[in-house]
Order: sequence, then C-alpha cells, then structure tokens
Amino acid sequence: MTNGFVTMAYLISGIFFVLSLGGLSKQETARKGNLYGIIGMSVAIIATFLGGQVENFRLLIPLMLGGAILGGILAKRVEMTSMPELVAILHSFVGLAAVLVGLASFLDPSHDLLEGTNRLIHDVEILLGVFIGGVTFTGSVIAFAKLRGSLSGKPLLLPGRHILNLGMVGASIWLGSRFLDQAPDQGLISLLTVIAISFILGVHLISAIGGADMPVVVSMLNSYSGWAAAAAGFMLKNDLLIITGALVGSSGAILSYIMCKAMNRSLSNVIFGGFGTAGGTSSKGKEVEGTITETHADEVAQELKEAKEVMIVPGYGMAVAQAQHVVKDITETLREMEINVRFAIHPVAGRLPGHMNVLLAEANVPYDIVFEMDEINADLPEVDVLLVIGANDIVNPSALEDKDSPIAGMPVIEAWNAKSVVAMKRSMAAGYSGVENPLYFKDNTQMLFGDAKDTLSAVFSKLNG
Ligand code: TAP
Repeated sequence: MTNGFVTMAYLISGIFFVLSLGGLSKQETARKGNLYGIIGMSVAIIATFLGGQVENFRLLIPLMLGGAILGGILAKRVEMTSMPELVAILHSFVGLAAVLVGLASFLDPSHDLLEGTNRLIHDVEILLGVFIGGVTFTGSVIAFAKLRGSLSGKPLLLPGRHILNLGMVGASIWLGSRFLDQAPDQGLISLLTVIAISFILGVHLISAIGGADMPVVVSMLNSYSGWAAAAAGFMLKNDLLIITGALVGSSGAILSYIMCKAMNRSLSNVIFGGFGTAGGTSSKGKEVEGTITETHADEVAQELKEAKEVMIVPGYGMAVAQAQHVVKDITETLREMEINVRFAIHPVAGRLPGHMNVLLAEANVPYDIVFEMDEINADLPEVDVLLVIGANDIVNPSALEDKDSPIAGMPVIEAWNAKSVVAMKRSMAAGYSGVENPLYFKDNTQMLFGDAKDTLSAVFSKLNG
C-alpha cells in the first residue's frame, strides 16, 4: 500500500471515529455509533498492517490476538456498576503505551540523526508524551484501585501537597529543559527522571481525591490519555493517532465539564477538595426536622392503579439493587392499564455518565418514555405518583432552598412538585454528597423502605394480584 492510500485509509477511519462519537451521544443511535467505531478501528489496523512500516508480524499477531481475547472476556464479564473501574485500567494502558513510545522514540537510532528544529520539536513531543503518559498511567492505576476498593477511598492529604505537586512539575520542567540541551547520548538520565517524577505525581495527585469523586477523575484521565496518545502520534508521525488522541482528549474534557456542571462543582473543586474533604463542602447541610410517613407495597400498588400520570426517577440505588428489570415489568403493567408512565433522568444519576440510560436500555424500557431532567421538571405538578427509586441527591430540594448546602445550586429533579411521592431506599442514610434530604419529610412524600428490587417486586405482585 502506498503512503497516499494509508493516509486516505486513516482519514476514512478518522471520519468513522467522529461518526461514532456522534452516534454514541444518543441512546437510539448508540449501537450504530459503536459499529462505526469498530469499522474505523478495523480500517486503521488493516491500513497500518499494509502500510509497510510493520514488519514483525510473528510477534505482533499473537500479541494482538491475546489482547483482543482478554479484552473481549473482560468486557463481557464486567458489571455496569464496575464500568468506571474497567475504563480506568484501560486508560492506564494508554498512559503506559505513551511512556514506552516516548522512550522507544528516544532510543531509536534514527533519533540521533535528527538536527536543529526537527530534533527540538521531536524531543518536546517525547517529553510531553512521557510526562502526560506517566501521570495518566499511575493516576489511572490508583483510580482503578480506589474504585475497586483495593485502596481506601479516603483522600490522602499530605501536608503541603499543593507545594509538593508544584515542586514536581517545576522539577520536570527544569529536567526537560536540560534534556533538550543535552546530546542524544546524554539525555537518557534526564528523561528517565522525568518519567519517574510523572509516575509519583500521578500517584500523589489521584491519591488526594476521595473515592466517590473517582468517576469525574476517570473522565479527566480519559482526556489526559487522549492527549498522551496525540503526543505519541506526533512522535510516530502517525496522523490517525493524532486525530484519535485529539478526539479522546477533547471529548474527555467536555465530559468532565458536563459532569462537573451537573454537580454544580468546578473541576478544581473535585481535584483539590471534594465532598467530605476540604473546603466548604464538608457540612451535611441544614439539620432536617420533622416526621416521615412510611408506606407499604400494597398501598403503593393501589396508588399506582388509581394514577393517570406516573413518573419514575431512578438513581444509584436502582443500579445497586439491579432493579431495572422489575421496573420495566411494572412500567409495562401500568401502560397496559392505560396509565402514562415516564422516566426522568438526571445527568449525574448513578455513578457514571448515562448510567441510568444504559440500565433502562438493558431492561428494554422504550426510549420514547425516557426524558432528561430539563424536559420534565415543568410537567411535575401534573404527575399523580412519582417513584424515586434509590435516588437521593438528584431529588434533594436543599440544592435549591438552602444556599449553605454543599449541593447548593446543583440542578435537581423537582420531585416534591408531584402530587404524591414514594421514595424507595433501605434507610434514612444520605446519598453520595452526605447531605440530608428534606424531600423525605415533606407532607406529600411516603417512604417505602427496603432493597429496591425486593420492594418493587412486592409492588409488582400486588399490582397483578
Ligand atoms: P445517591 O445520592 O448516591 O443516592 C443513592 C441512594 O440509593 C442512597 O441514598 C441509598 O440509600 C439508596 N440505595 C443504595 N442501595 C440501594 C438499594 N439496594 N435499594 C434501594 N436503595 C438503595 O445517588 P443519586 O441520587 O443517583 O445521585 C448521584 C450522586 O452521585 C450525585 O451526588 C452525583 O453528583 C454523584 N456522582 C455522579 C456521577 C455520575 S457521572 N453519574 C459521577 C460522580 C458522582 P440507602 O442506603 O438508605 O438505601
């Protein structure tokens, strides 16, 4: 294959990757988006194989097959709730690959032949690639361990940690400038030291963030891994790697921004002091006074039968209980009774972007009855019964009513505006942000205690009984 063909194939892959991102942004087109991604990657691999730069097929093919089989098995086995873990460990591979590509580019004999500006540019690419890659590698490993529970979710807050971080960045810049001035045979020690510092920085930076904030961190590391891949693309003079790296880098950054905005927090608040760590976010909000009203499955079933408009707000607890299938069964039964059932999805419900949408899609809930928070808030006063299934922060009125609350200003689903609310959870425990929820004490709210799958199964059998 000539260079022209390879470039053309890479361009086609790049277009498929853009189409893939577009498809993945909506539930209805997500499958198509996935398919576009697979086609783009297949074209890229075939073009790389036929491009003439790859020679050692005997080593490459078994390694690729081994990786593909292992990846396939892991992806099949992973539970939805463990998805951030899998993504974190995959990012660590990208980071490590960028470090290794940087090191290999430096050790490549052709590197010594580069001169002047070409050499300077190439060395800057190597430095950026290994530094970003190193932080991504160890940071992602720590994020993986925290999400998995192998490391404590508690933030490790060393005294003077910001100074330490700044010192490490400063030392890397100084070593980097030395590296650029050194002759090719002398730069290795400086480069290896930059790599070692980036590894330590990655560990320190992510260890200081609480386990609960890891999903935002994973999305941020996703962005870093993209930039590391783009730097590797420059080193290898591979246009597709540059395009793909930039796509991953910018989409990861946009996703982190969207997640932070939906939580009404800044990225720096997540990185430098999350919920329950530093800053003004450590309080539990106002003490809530009042009494709660408890209800039971048969009463809820009766209320549902008498309703015309039902709204379901799922949250993290639905994922924990794996209650999506019984939710679907209840939805079907109510729709057969000609009751209008809709779902309201908060942008950060659960623990990963699109968490609820994926669970509902898995249970085959029709897409056209699933709505975003912004589309639904105005309709809530017409809702007869609103079921809050294992959701807490995303329906907390103190976000709007208590300006001193740690979640003040976070947009929420205004569940309390419905005529009647049934909140399903196991206890009165707080949610992710640790803030008490006045919704449970409102006159129109009733609590249905228990594991969501058990309570919903009981409601389902009473509905059919
Ligand atoms: P949470 O506020 O975490 O509340 C979940 C509730 O589910 C808990 O109060 C818990 O109460 C209940 N629960 C747990 N297991 C249950 C079970 N088996 N059966 C019934 N209930 C159960 O969740 P949310 O309302 O979905 O809000 C999400 C939070 O996560 C937000 O604060 C958001 O900012 C944060 N966050 C989201 C993301 C993304 S991208 N989605 C990323 C990072 C952080 P009990 O213990 O009493 O049962």
